[in-house]
Amino acid sequence: MGKRITLSVIKADVGGLVGHTNVHPELLEKARGLLSGNPLVIDSYVTHVGDDINLIITHEAGRNNGEIHELAWNVFVACTEVAKKLKLYGAGQDLLADAFTGNIKGLGPGIAEMEFEERTSEPVVILMADKTEPGAWNLPLYKIFADPFNTPGLVIDPKMHCGFNFEVRDLIEDKKIIFSAPEEIYDMLVFIGAPGRYCIKRVFHKDTGDIAAVSSTQRLNLMAGRYIGKDDPVCIIRCQSGFPAVGEVLEPFAHPHLVSGWMRGSHCGPLMPVSVNDAHPTRFDGPPRVIALGFQLSEGKLVGPQDLFADPAFDRAREQANYIADYLRRHGPFEPHRLHLEEMEYTTMPLVMEKLKERFISMRQLRESKSAAGTT
Ligand code: 13P
Ligand code: 13P
Ligand code: MG
Ligand code: MG
Repeated sequence: MGKRITLSVIKADVGGLVGHTNVHPELLEKARGLLSGNPLVIDSYVTHVGDDINLIITHEAGRNNGEIHELAWNVFVACTEVAKKLKLYGAGQDLLADAFTGNIKGLGPGIAEMEFEERTSEPVVILMADKTEPGAWNLPLYKIFADPFNTPGLVIDPKMHCGFNFEVRDLIEDKKIIFSAPEEIYDMLVFIGAPGRYCIKRVFHKDTGDIAAVSSTQRLNLMAGRYIGKDDPVCIIRCQSGFPAVGEVLEPFAHPHLVSGWMRGSHCGPLMPVSVNDAHPTRFDGPPRVIALGFQLSEGKLVGPQDLFADPAFDRAREQANYIADYLRRHGPFEPHRLHLEEMEYTTMPLVMEKLKERFISMRQLRESKSAAGTT
């Protein structure tokens, strides 16, 4: 029997260098110092994508553990102090609460956690993105766990042939539903094709019930009741031996699909797979980035990481993303490059509407008054 391990990935933007492009190394050092040597933690790894700090923590305390969540919260608070001292941009941006209240969910940071019995060999891939939202994982998770054109293992690996169960969340009405793939993929796609509202939260192996993937589904704007920054998401995926191969997990990112986010959280753009060294989006604050770190777990120790998109085989995806970025940028303030109104984060629409409301003339009233007057 392997050890029961919990893998928690907790992220927050607590201040950008410069603007929203990157994290200052002092913040990363602060986070590393606070996590390493903590008695609750088996192992930890701190990284960043764009302006988001990602804390990767292994422990034995299980999911939703108050002490682990409080530790992460305290790390972000301490990093915020550094960010304030350096006057970094948007210091404390993602910390919505004044104090920790028992569970980090709902307080601003994004979180994905899974608990499992460590296998003989336990490869995991952690995906982390900036300038986008949780629904960005829908298309790749669908391809990884339900599309045989992406994942031949679904056809040829007897341990995967049964398929997977998908837990889908409705982020607006706060509901969940389980879909069984492949039988119910047409029903499921009705929902997950609308990634601004429906997000794949978890994927389970159908025969064993084992957890295969989990994503962060926090939406800051929904929590705060107003738009205050994108919910740059993370996702953990277990690989090999009944789960998708590492290469099957990475393959969807060879296609830079369109996601919501980018400049001011209000534009649609291609998700560009990059190495950690290239994870600082600058062009028009983007285009949106995704990094992938691979680890082998060994008694909870994080062996690695391997920077999985630091591979020239993803050059063409990056080139295509740049081409798509050029094409979309030429739309300027027009949809669908600019998101539709409900999705706009820093929208001036209510202000402009308020200013102009007296000048909008009702066409119905105009028609009625014309017909009453006998004119046309
Ligand atoms: P729940 O919202 O299902 O408790 O999720 C907890 C978790 O694992 C976060 O990813
Ligand atoms: P972040 O959500 O990464 O902070 O970016 C916000 C933004 O306004 C980018 O232009
Ligand atoms: Mg930011
Ligand atoms: Mg960000």
